[in-house]
Amino acid sequence: MKKVKKESTIYVFDDLQELPKDVAYLMEKAIEARSRAYAPYSNFEVGAALLLDNDEIITGNNQENASYPSGLCAERTAIYYAGSQYPEAKVIRMAISASSKITSTETPIPPCGACRQAMVEYEIKQTHAIEVYFMGSKGAVAKSNSVVNLLPFVFDKTALF
Ligand code: THU
Repeated sequence: MKKVKKESTIYVFDDLQELPKDVAYLMEKAIEARSRAYAPYSNFEVGAALLLDNDEIITGNNQENASYPSGLCAERTAIYYAGSQYPEAKVIRMAISASSKITSTETPIPPCGACRQAMVEYEIKQTHAIEVYFMGSKGAVAKSNSVVNLLPFVFDKTALF
């Protein structure tokens, strides 16, 4: 037996003001998108904004459904839209903001596992790391230099062929 260890590092900014201007702008777009979330069941609203290498900004938010599993997270709504509209474009970075009408969300809230899996597909496809910034409703903003950093021991196409 041998031990296989992978380390993940994130960087935490105190608040939006500490971010580089262009990143803060992208996060503002995520926050705007969050305000349009359709989350009547969880009351947990998430917004995501993607910057593409063609300078387009794509946003998305969570879309819930009375049949709960039929809903979709903000990150996947946004990245699938980007993939469907601009299949050749690379994703430079993604900003995510979450808030709840029920509980406090003032610490960075990372994307769920299913979204990380969806996001890493595009990172591998484009062979270029996607920066991921995530926050709650206010306060600190966390940065990961890549998606795979958030998803060590990733499942990817190398398992299939
Ligand atoms: N949600 C997201 O939009 N992104 C995540 O990464 C985690 C969860 C949504 C799904 C559901 O609408 C609500 O938040 C509560 O789980």
